[in-house]
Parts: sequence; structure tokens; C-alpha cells
Amino acid sequence: MEKNIAVLAGDGIGPEIVAEAVKVLDAVANKYGHRFDYRPAPVGACAIDATGDPYPAETHRVCQEADAVLFGAIGDPKYDNDPAAKVRPEQGLLRMRKSLGLFANIRPLVMFDSLADRSPLKTEIVKGADFVCVRELTGGMYFGRPQGRSEDGNTAYDTCVYTREEVERILHLAFGLARGRRKHLTVVDKANVIATSRLWRQIAKEIEPQYPDVELEFMFVDNAAMQLIQRPTHFDVIVTENLFGDILTDESSVISGSLGMLPSASVGTETALFEPIHGSYPQAAGKNIANPMATILSAAMLLEHLGLNEEGAAVRRAVDKAVTEGIVTEDIARTGARAYSTSEVGDFVAANV
Ligand code: IPM
Ligand code: MN
Repeated sequence: MEKNIAVLAGDGIGPEIVAEAVKVLDAVANKYGHRFDYRPAPVGACAIDATGDPYPAETHRVCQEADAVLFGAIGDPKYDNDPAAKVRPEQGLLRMRKSLGLFANIRPLVMFDSLADRSPLKTEIVKGADFVCVRELTGGMYFGRPQGRSEDGNTAYDTCVYTREEVERILHLAFGLARGRRKHLTVVDKANVIATSRLWRQIAKEIEPQYPDVELEFMFVDNAAMQLIQRPTHFDVIVTENLFGDILTDESSVISGSLGMLPSASVGTETALFEPIHGSYPQAAGKNIANPMATILSAAMLLEHLGLNEEGAAVRRAVDKAVTEGIVTEDIARTGARAYSTSEVGDFVAANV
């Protein structure tokens, strides 16, 4: 099979972790006789430096023409501490999501039994946790307008907006996912306070009869934040709005033991995109110490999205083997055990594909 893959490495550790995922994709191509044509394109702080725009039109074209996008991370501290910065790397990410129509961000919690004791939570609590969070990605407060400041600068406002169409499509996607899993769907909202949440609830109840085999449950977001770490095994598929999903998925990563292990897929109306859920980790950039597994597992999701299920499974098996045998970076290495570098971990996974 021949596929075009847009490669948007981005900032910080982005280029290093993406290089390892590409190494693994190359191993897949070799073993299974595929051809992956990689199209690199700039995004984030490096794109601002080069072109003044965090998501240049040319990068958008490369993404549109690709069969899938592999994305690293964006963000640079030099923009975080400058309140006057006119353009920020994160704007590139948001524009990319919006212009590619990536309305659903699918974040599976991947548990590795051999890492259960790396979680700050008790092993008996996290063992067997297996859920997917579906985060709405192109609506809510991230995109609602008006957003800004009053003229005197002393009042600031954001707007949370959801339309019926936006809510329906994400709920259908979540119901469908639940149907293919353990058939349990939790809609996380704040319907006791927020109007958009009440619309989500109303539409979820309207749609429910179309999925009689799926058990639907509603949970307030504050309660969900607690339940997630108190009894993570309760959850199968969680669906929620943009900002709640952002917060709950970082929280969920604690269950798996490392943010460095969690992949994601963003799907929608155009080319799907695959990225680790962590950020650009600027302190580690260039040091060859960052954990490449989240990006490698994102590449596995990319393969599965292209219908290459056997290939995806081969990548997952190789990752499992690396984790079980302790061929891992310092964030998850055992005390006293040798930590491997980013590229050594990538070499091992590629060789085992
Ligand atoms: C994420 C990130 C982004 C978000 C930031 C970098 C804008 O935290 O992908 O979860 O908030 O969506
Ligand atoms: Mn986030």
C-alpha cells in the first residue's frame, strides 16, 4: 500500500519523538511491503520563527493532501511568558484542528501491567483500567466568540458555544465507539450550572434510543474528576466538551504511570491526525531522553486508521515487549535500572516490528 503521511514534528522534543515514530513506520513498511511517503511541514514556534505564522497555508495544504498527519508537539517557553506576544504557537494548533475539521479527539488510556506500580495511585485501583476519552475538539470555550477584554482592560470574557450539529456528531461517534467496546458511555458535563451542558444532555437522551445496546450515564465533571482516580475501572467510553476533556485527559494520564505513554487520534471531516497527548517538554529538547512511546503508539493508531490493523498490532506488541523488558526512557525506568535514550527505545521497537 502507498500512503502519504504529513509529518509535523513541531517544537521542543517534537522532532526527536517523531523521528522514532517514523523509524517504526519504516520498519512496518519494510516488513509488510508498504510505501510511506513522508511530507514534513512546519508548525508551532518553529513555523513562527520561519514564516511569522504558526500554521502556514503551505502546511495546511500538505495536511489536506496527506492520507494522515503525524504530529509531534508545539510550544516554546519564550512565548509563554510574554503577555504581549501577538501570535502564539498554540494558535497554530487550534487553527490546524479547526481548519482540518478535527472535531473528535480520541484519547485511549493504555495500561501496561508492568507499569502499574509506576502510577502514583495504588496498583489495585489502576489495575485493569481501560477506557477511552472522546474530547470534543473544535467547539466550546476554545473557539467561542466573543473572547477578550473590555476597553479598560479590567474585565475579560470567554464564551462557551455549542450547536446541535456539533453535539450530535460527537455523541454519535462516542456511542459508536462504546458499541464496539464494553457498551458503556459516560457523558461528562456540568448540566446543573451550564447551558451548553444542558443541550448536551438533552441531545444525548434523544440519541440514546438509536443505541439500545449501550448503557448511557451522565456524570458532573467535578464528580468525574474524582471518580476517575478513585475507580478508573468504572469507565469504558467517556465523552465530553473541549475544556473538560483537556483537563480530564491530563488527569487520566496519571493512571497509566506516565504522560509519556499516551497517544491520541483526532478525526473529523478531513485528514485525521495522530499525536501524543503530552506537550513539547522544552527542558528535554535535544537531550535524547524524552519518551517516544506516546508518539509510536500514535503511529500505531495511524496505521489502524489506514486499515492496517495487523501492522498496528505489530507495533503495539513491540512496544509491550520494550516496556516488559525495561527498554524504556528515564521517566518510567525502574529505580536502579539503566534508562535508555529516546533513539535506543525507537531502535528496539523498530527492530521488534
Ligand atoms: C492539548 C493541549 C492543547 C489544548 C494546548 C497546547 C492548546 O493542552 O492538546 O491537550 O489545550 O488543547
Ligand atoms: Mn491538554
